[in-house]
Amino acid sequence: MPGVAARIAATHVLDDVLHRGRSLKAALAQALPTLPDVRDRALAEAVAMTALRQHARFDAALAAWLQKPLVARDRELRALLLAGFAQLEMGLPAHAALDATVEAARAMGRAHQAGLVNALLRRAQREGLPEAQFDAGWPAWLAAQVRADWPQQADAIFAASAQEAPMWLRVNRRVQPRDAYLALLRDAGINATADETLPDAIRLQSTLPVQQLPGFDAGAVSVQDGAAQAVADALSPSSQARVLDACAAPGGKAAHLAERDPALRILALDVDARRVRRMQDAFARLQLSIDTRAADAAQPAMWWDGTPFDAILIDAPCSATGIVRRQPDVLLHRRQADIDALIATQSKLLDALWPLLTPGGTLVYATCSILHAENAAQVAAFLARTADATLEPLGDSFGINAGFGYQRLPGEGGMDGFFCAKLRKASRP
Ligand SMILES: C[S@@+](CC[C@H](N)C(=O)[O-])C[C@H]1O[C@@H](n2cnc3c(N)ncnc32)[C@H](O)[C@@H]1O
Repeated sequence: MPGVAARIAATHVLDDVLHRGRSLKAALAQALPTLPDVRDRALAEAVAMTALRQHARFDAALAAWLQKPLVARDRELRALLLAGFAQLEMGLPAHAALDATVEAARAMGRAHQAGLVNALLRRAQREGLPEAQFDAGWPAWLAAQVRADWPQQADAIFAASAQEAPMWLRVNRRVQPRDAYLALLRDAGINATADETLPDAIRLQSTLPVQQLPGFDAGAVSVQDGAAQAVADALSPSSQARVLDACAAPGGKAAHLAERDPALRILALDVDARRVRRMQDAFARLQLSIDTRAADAAQPAMWWDGTPFDAILIDAPCSATGIVRRQPDVLLHRRQADIDALIATQSKLLDALWPLLTPGGTLVYATCSILHAENAAQVAAFLARTADATLEPLGDSFGINAGFGYQRLPGEGGMDGFFCAKLRKASRP
């Protein structure tokens, strides 16, 4: 039956992420290549993502509808049922969702539970899935922190984090202007709109495999959220500037800078050698020659040649609390102690890289977090201990003015949650 393999793959991904502590990225990387058809891969990914975003709601339905609660040996069954509910939630034709999921149960050696799967999915179809609290699925400590940091906006943040994110594209200006790419999309029958505030950004109505994007392999376009595209405007280095992208992989922001100004001399650094290789592949596809290096940015003695940078971008490792809609497993895997460790890494990066900035130069500190401690409080503390650093204004298009930088909350303008602060180093007297 068509689509059964996609349901099985989605179930394996969910089982791995929910029950074995694996990251969504790693689980998808293992499961998707087993599906030869690109449409099956897209379906499996969408089902797994939807189930993870809504799992607390779906679990509440199971708790209410099952006479006996699921036990440890039913974990795979739970994953399959969540995959089934996700398909109904996504609006897939109910008969196809039901038939293929029940068939998947049989193919997974669970013929004895096929009747139960069928009955639960039919009930969900008939009665609808129950609504859940806004913060369902968020660990209590993290939900409390979001409420403390954003008392007015917290419920909107939780709601936006459970929604599917739109697909954003960054048009490569070196290949064609944005209008020309919009015309190519139109010719290919793909619905798209140009963003008003971001000069290279296009928003698609629905997510597509990149292979379906005209000219993708030839570097015409990349996938990048609008919030991330704003960073090039925040840094806005002068032509021929020497730029350090200290936490660069997989290279989205460095590539954007180079597409805008091929004369920039960019060093794209990342501590993770595997991610550096992915970044090199991305630069090759875009035909950009950007220097790359696998090294710890917090230890410049190991890699810096002593020539100061005119502009530095620290797109820091962070809690990823602004991109839960794209990485819903963040809520499963993040521990409170991780946040303190991340805050320490971020301040170490700021302190270690500031001396590499030329007097008068600018440093942009960015995260995809929505927590004050990683963002405005991090920048405030840095300014307090760094005599030659001042904060530069950026403007409302970068989000809410958080006092020490700008915060975009998830879903605002269709974009990811993102924080950005621009710092300037005093010129020599
Ligand atoms: C938010 S991601 C960067 C995304 C990237 N700027 C882009 O636009 O595609 C953060 C990156 O920081 C890297 N990282 C973490 N600690 C680092 C360190 N000490 N030095 C250099 N890179 C580090 C991680 O490997 C990860 O790739």
